[in-house]
Amino acid sequence: MPKSLISINDLEPEEMELIFETAASFKEVATREIKKVPTLRGRTIVNLFLEPSTRTRTSFELAGKRLSADVVNISAKSSALAKGESLEDTAKTIEAMNADIVIIRHSAPGSPYLLTKLINCGVINAGDGAHEHPTQALLDLFTVNEVLGKIRGLKVAIVGDISHSRVARSNILAFNKMGAKVVLVGPPTLMPAEIELMDVEVSYDLDSAIKDVDVIYLLRIQLERQNESYFPSLREYSSLFGLNMDKVRLAKKDALIMHPGPMNRGIEITSEVASLPQTVVNEQVANGVAVRMAVLYHLLIGGGGSLEAS
Ligand code: NCD
Repeated sequence: MPKSLISINDLEPEEMELIFETAASFKEVATREIKKVPTLRGRTIVNLFLEPSTRTRTSFELAGKRLSADVVNISAKSSALAKGESLEDTAKTIEAMNADIVIIRHSAPGSPYLLTKLINCGVINAGDGAHEHPTQALLDLFTVNEVLGKIRGLKVAIVGDISHSRVARSNILAFNKMGAKVVLVGPPTLMPAEIELMDVEVSYDLDSAIKDVDVIYLLRIQLERQNESYFPSLREYSSLFGLNMDKVRLAKKDALIMHPGPMNRGIEITSEVASLPQTVVNEQVANGVAVRMAVLYHLLIGGGGSLEAS
């Protein structure tokens, strides 16, 4: 296992499988009355979240705490970065406190990688701009594998704002690595320029694209990252690319419906679709904790260590 996880490209397919196996055994911990194992006792995890986040920050915090690590949270507003400190100085301060791993979310693509050059401990990318969000992709694939029993051979539609989405980028890499086929669906203005370089199909028509897929993965419209108009109106976007019951009826009966959250209900997904049994958004969140426990375990203890989930 690598010491840091910046991109899905840092992991071999076998390492992803190992993370899934470990996550499956850690999932059981959440069902206990005392939801804690001593695996990372005495280790220090710093959650450095410099962009708004609820679920990812909480998920990493719970993952660390369930493994008995000491978890410290630093957020944009409360940190000295708000007082003008550079990322380099913040990194050095964290290192001086002997952190074992830093989990960073930052609006600038490449900042987690930069952090690996500034400090000696491991770094986990919890989302850097529109670049990558590898643990989100890992929890998504874990969920697909858990519900559908496999990933290889599946067809996955990733729908919406591809060009501003770090979740899309990490998921494309991860699904491809594990042998699934990806079709990207959305308006041409939300497709990234480098699309020909990715091993994917592209469709601009949701109705026809979802007919034969096993997974429909909806992305949030990232209004905060769009600095110009990419489509005429949200209403037009949602009538063409939002998932409503009429469109669900066009898809395979049991196609999984996924979303990384937070959902813009009424834009990329209707409330009715969000509450269908085949919509696994809550399972994704629950699995997120177990998958992040597995990532922390493997990065900190290493692939060779034995698993003490007791
Ligand atoms: C995603 C993110 O922040 O990239 N959310 C998440 O991690 N739960 C997706 C999004 O914000 O749309």
